[in-house]
Order: sequence, then C-alpha cells, then structure tokens
Amino acid sequence: MSPRPSAVVVLAAGEGTRMKSALPKVMHRILGRTLLGHVLAASAPLGADHTIVVVGHGRDAVIDSLIESEPQVLTAVQEQQRGTGHAVRIALAELARAPQPVDRADGPIVVLAGDAPLITSATLIELLAAHDQSGAAATVLSARLDDPTGYGRIVRGPDGQVLAIVEQKDTDAVQREIAEVSSGVFAFSLDLLRDALARIGTANAAGEEYLPDVLSLLRADGHLVGAVAAASPAEVLGVNDRVQLARARALLRDRINEQWMRHGVTIVDPTTTWIGVGVTLEADCVIHQNTQLHGRTHIARLAAVGPDSTLRDVEVGEGARVRRTDATEADIGPRAQVGPFSFLRPGTVLAAAAKVGAYVETKNAVVGEGSKVPHLSYVGDAEIGAGTNIGAATVFVNYDGVHKHRTVVGDHVRVGSDSMLVGPLHIGDGAYTAAGSVITEDVPAGAMAVGRTRQRNVEGWVERKRAGTASAQAAAHARHTGSDAPPGAGNDPSGEQHE
Ligand code: UD1
Ligand code: CA
Repeated sequence: MSPRPSAVVVLAAGEGTRMKSALPKVMHRILGRTLLGHVLAASAPLGADHTIVVVGHGRDAVIDSLIESEPQVLTAVQEQQRGTGHAVRIALAELARAPQPVDRADGPIVVLAGDAPLITSATLIELLAAHDQSGAAATVLSARLDDPTGYGRIVRGPDGQVLAIVEQKDTDAVQREIAEVSSGVFAFSLDLLRDALARIGTANAAGEEYLPDVLSLLRADGHLVGAVAAASPAEVLGVNDRVQLARARALLRDRINEQWMRHGVTIVDPTTTWIGVGVTLEADCVIHQNTQLHGRTHIARLAAVGPDSTLRDVEVGEGARVRRTDATEADIGPRAQVGPFSFLRPGTVLAAAAKVGAYVETKNAVVGEGSKVPHLSYVGDAEIGAGTNIGAATVFVNYDGVHKHRTVVGDHVRVGSDSMLVGPLHIGDGAYTAAGSVITEDVPAGAMAVGRTRQRNVEGWVERKRAGTASAQAAAHARHTGSDAPPGAGNDPSGEQHE
C-alpha cells in the first residue's frame, strides 16, 4: 500500500512556445482528452486530499475546461512563469489557504507536469510506495532514454546516490551523455519541499527557479533523495512541440489497442486504429483497418467495424456490421448493416437487422426492425416502421427553408425508387409508392400512391430530328427488323424499385 498524498500539484502555466499555437499547450488533445486531462486521470486513483493545477498562460481556457470536466480540482495562478520551482511554491501557498489546509496533512506531495500525458496510475503508485519505504525527502521518477535531449539529466555520485538534476541548457559535454533523465514527476515530503523551495535560486542558463534544484539542496542538507524508474520510458515523454504531440498520441494509441486486444478484441491493424479513452469494446468484436472510435462509442460482441470508419458516440449492437462509415451520435442495433459509404448523423437509430447502404445519409431518423434504405438516399426527421424498403435515391424532403417536418412511414411499406417524400407526411402500413413520385399527401395503409406525370412517347422522333446519327440508324434498323416491340406487357408503376 502506498500512502495517500496530501496533494497532487500539476504544473500547467507554461506557454508552450514550441507548440506555436494559440491554444495553451496542455489543452491540446490526444485520443479523447486534453494533455492535462490525461495527467489528472492518471493521478485520480492516488486519492489525494487535494489536486491543484498551476495555471498561467491561456489560463481562462484551462480553467474553463477544468470547471467543465474536473470541478473538484483547485487552481493556483502563476502570473509570470518564473520556473517550475516558482510554480510549486505558488501551489503550496494556495493549498495553505484551502478549506482543509494541506499543512495539517501528513501525506507526501506529488508534483506532475501537465505536458507529460503518458504517465500511468500504476507508476505513480510505485513512486509513492518507494518514496514511503525509503523515507527519502524527495523521490524523482526517472527513465533511461535513447535520446535524452531536452530533459533534465540525473547526476549520481560514485555511490550511485542521486546528487542533482541538471537541465539540458546547463549540461556540460559529459552530462549530455547521461541517458537517465528526470520525468518532471516527484514525490516530496511537504515540510522539506517548502523549506528548500524558499532557497532555490535563478543562477542557471534559463534564469528560472528550477524545481529539480530542490534535490541538490536536500542532498546538501544530508537528506536522502531517491529515484524510481518508470515502468516504460514512454511514460515520461513530455510534449513540447507538435512532433512530440504526435509521438505521444501514437504511443497512447498502442497502449490502448494493446489493452483491448488483451481483453479479447480483434484489431486487424493496430497502427491505423485509433480508440479514444472513453470508448468501450466487448470481447469478440472486430475492428478493421483505418478506423477511429471516439467519445462514448460502445461496440458489442460479434460486431465488426471498419475498414475506413469514424464513429463518435455511437452504440453498435451485437453482430452488427459497419463498413466505410462516418457516424455521430447514432444507435446501430444488433445485426444491423451499415455501409459502405454511409453517413449517419445525430439522432439516427437503426433497429435490429436494419440496413443502411451505399451513399445514404441519415439524420434524426429511426429505421425499424429489418427495414432497408439500401442506396443513394437522404433520410431526415423520419420514422420508418418494420420490414419496410426505401427504394434507391429516395429523399425525405424535411426542410421547407424555414422549418423541419417529420415523415412517418409504416410497416412493410415499399417506397419506389427516386421518390421525394415531402414532409409532414404519413405513409400507412403496407402502402406502396410509385417510382419517381413526389409524394406530398398522406398515403393510406395499403394504397399505391402515384405522384408523377404520365409518360408520353413521340413515335419516330429520333429518325426525324436526329437523322444521320448512330441512334437514328439503330432506330431505323429496329423498325425494319421489327425488333422494337416492348419486351413485357405489364405496367406496374412500382416495378422500377430496387431492393
Ligand atoms: C522539465 C524539467 C526537466 C524534465 C522535463 C520532463 C524543470 C526546470 N525542468 O523541463 O527536468 O526532464 O520537464 O518533461 O523543471 N511550468 C509552469 N510554470 C513555469 C514553468 C513551467 O507551470 O514557470 C510548467 C509547464 O507548463 C509544463 C511543466 O511545468 O507543464 C514543465 O515545463 P517545461 O517548460 O515544459 O519544462 P521542460 O523544459 O520540459
Ligand atoms: Ca516539458
């Protein structure tokens, strides 16, 4: 058991100049959370009495986002970014003013960097356990990196004890070769931290108050300073520019995918599958190449999604099949089929075994059990019953330029291809509509609605008006050989519908 921290302090006041962004660095997002959100999520299981975020640059945006997603988190404002040590000093001062001041608690203080989103709860718990067991005044989370450039290097004495952390800008040629770096994550004993922070200077290349300098001060006072290696070097990756942002995103993608594969999900191509932290998957679902799952998307067992699909806040039922689809806030029922090239917009509900096919857009629409919208259609503000077929190229004409109107289609209806269903409209159970119709009036149950002008054939027109063309020659040939008789006699207006 590791001790419960009195406080978690997250540093997030820096500008993040190297991001070259109008957005504060810690507000950049990877796989469903801000960088800061990832850090807070990793530290939440520690159960600290207080969590405080030091804000500065772009603080309105940071505070707004905290109020929305982490209302229990405190903030301290660092007006000028005078270094990480200065930032922690401000946080401790704010914590002393908290309703239950941190002074009276005896757990350690954990400091985290808001720009290192890959840290895990497990590693933080290990850090706290080691800090507790060793009785150190300070324990730093470290890692060995193939390329330590940019990080503070951990300098150890001949006995292997941690002596100091030297920032990149302050390293000499020998120190630059040190592969062991500081993650910027620490556990401290509160009193010793506060005392040392009062004494750190700014005599360094950046002219800043460096938090890592606390370690050498504590050492000089004869206190024990420890280091714990992160489970994986990836955990300490700091995001200072957009190259590191992309790297962090890819590492998190791999971590999330691995977790789902171990849970029983088949991920056909983990390098092109991006699953947000809020997504949940059941064992025995399959995710195909080039698929992005965002928000609260849930995929049930035996369902398959992808390739080339993007789902946001979508529920996919058991055994459903979703191919090459873009869907947002949609509910895809069990055994439903979607795609390829379908666009499901918010409020789409597909009942069990419903089908939405190629080049179909739906919005605020319910498609009943076993009903099909197989090709080239727009279904908006609609309710379709069970067992109904919507012919190819049907448009639910829901918008009169000012208002939206609803169309209700009953059970076992056959809507002919190329129909315009002009809302508000009700088509009764078992009704048919003729292909190419503009349906503006309600259709009673069982009726056949025809809403189009009758066809007129102008005999001999091509030979008269397009003489000399290949068409005219073909027409003349047909006339001579008598092969122009109609193939069938029937004139069923619904015969043109596709299923
Ligand atoms: C810092 C550490 C370095 C460590 C690295 C790990 C210092 C001096 N350096 O370097 O040892 O290896 O992180 O990623 O601590 N911040 C404030 N107020 C400030 C300055 C910074 O809140 O006055 C915040 C930043 O917003 C950021 C974090 O502290 O979230 C780290 O600052 P950054 O400038 O990114 O430090 P690094 O150069 O990465
Ligand atoms: Ca950094």
